[in-house]
Amino acid sequence: MAFRISTKTALGRLPYASRGQWARTTIRSATTAAQTAKAAEFEGAATSPLFDAKDVIAKEASYMVATYSRPNIMFERGEGSYLWDTDQKKYLDFTAGIAVNSLGHADKGVTGVIAEQAQKLIHVCNLYHNPWTGELSRLIIDTTRASGAMVDASKVFICNSGSEANEAAIKFARKVGKTSGNPDKTQFVSFHNSFHGRTMGSLSATPNTKYQKPFGPMVPGFKYGNLNDVAAIDELVDENVCGVIVEPIQGEGGIHAATEEFLVALKKRCEDVGAVLIYDEIQCGLGRTGELWAHSILPKEAHPDIMTTAKALGNGVPVGATIVTEKVAEKIVIGDHGTTFGGNPLATRVAHHVFSRLSSTEMLREVQRKGDIFKNQLEKMKAKYPGLISEIRGRGLIIGVQLTKEPGNIVTECRDKGLLILTAGTNTLRIVPPLVITDEQINQGLDILEGVLAHAAKDGQNEQKAVGN
Ligand SMILES: Cc1ncc(COP(=O)(O)O)c(C=O)c1O
Repeated sequence: MAFRISTKTALGRLPYASRGQWARTTIRSATTAAQTAKAAEFEGAATSPLFDAKDVIAKEASYMVATYSRPNIMFERGEGSYLWDTDQKKYLDFTAGIAVNSLGHADKGVTGVIAEQAQKLIHVCNLYHNPWTGELSRLIIDTTRASGAMVDASKVFICNSGSEANEAAIKFARKVGKTSGNPDKTQFVSFHNSFHGRTMGSLSATPNTKYQKPFGPMVPGFKYGNLNDVAAIDELVDENVCGVIVEPIQGEGGIHAATEEFLVALKKRCEDVGAVLIYDEIQCGLGRTGELWAHSILPKEAHPDIMTTAKALGNGVPVGATIVTEKVAEKIVIGDHGTTFGGNPLATRVAHHVFSRLSSTEMLREVQRKGDIFKNQLEKMKAKYPGLISEIRGRGLIIGVQLTKEPGNIVTECRDKGLLILTAGTNTLRIVPPLVITDEQINQGLDILEGVLAHAAKDGQNEQKAVGN
């Protein structure tokens, strides 16, 4: 059987790339002959010029729950900031898998760690220790505190996704509230335009009718305020509130930053009423702003009691984390919360590698520098097309380009020309490229974008003329 071979001896002599090949051969030998033949057929076909992605997509669509609208292309491989589809068309990726692939695609360091750890140990259940869950937790806490962010960060709960990290945060805050002596301290506050996930708790904190309405009723006890409305805080966050969740920079909502004044006032009110302040840094954290965490620039008076992270933490390997202060951690006891996969040695070893690199001073400095290149060029475009671009927002490499019209056609035209770009909020183009993107790639992508925007601006002028007539 497959694992009778000594993996240590066999792998020790192989470079990482060959180890991946070895693993594939090994795993295949453990499957049935029919499965092997089918998999080989697909893999061979996907790289063959005869492979018709549109045909495969059409045939297989009926097997997939239709939760996403996808264009008729299929991505097969990536390298750094580029992706290739099955027709071998090359795309520059300004999306990074929605702020996930910060180290780029097929990064050698990440693939090497995956291959090595996969040969050793992928999973043991959470009833036992493994070498990486604790080590990742230690790294996150020590690095966060040394960076000047979340001064009271103390312990970490590792899970598998952003939604799950927020679920844990919501449960932890409820537990803090329930042990406060006030039996009604179960209420939650979140903010319009935010996005915290799709599971019932995180969805209840996401006041977007499109996402909530089909699945109501929501979890009871959630109420919503407006980001940056300082005057409303006192009434919104009352004695019965156990938790407040906020993104320091709203991602899906259109790249809107919470102001320092707002977050300082929010934290003060949370302290006054004994509520837990949660920062959702799932999209804006982990170096994306050019700081380790988006809230790193805030005074400690605005630091959170809980912070959540996921997305970039595994560079594509699913992993999330809920980081808490001692005040929160002491309320959570054995058996309160858990997950089968969360903290498995494969995901946590990868996350350890990724976190080490994303938190390096050099990486963060580079993100700030590249963010400035984007901002300068985009501001020039805004000056050129004032009727189409109304504002450039964001920090580092989380950037919003506010348009005056619906951006669907712009995204499609960019894709046709080999640039992947996202939308967010209302008529916002969202740029969240790999943090390792080069200056040349930034300019290449912005050239494509400018060509498409010039076209859209011209169309807009023609439409206005037509209306004027
Ligand atoms: C700020 C924020 N929170 C939570 C989530 C949910 O994360 P996941 O999709 O990994 O569950 C997202 C996902 O886009 C997000 O951007």
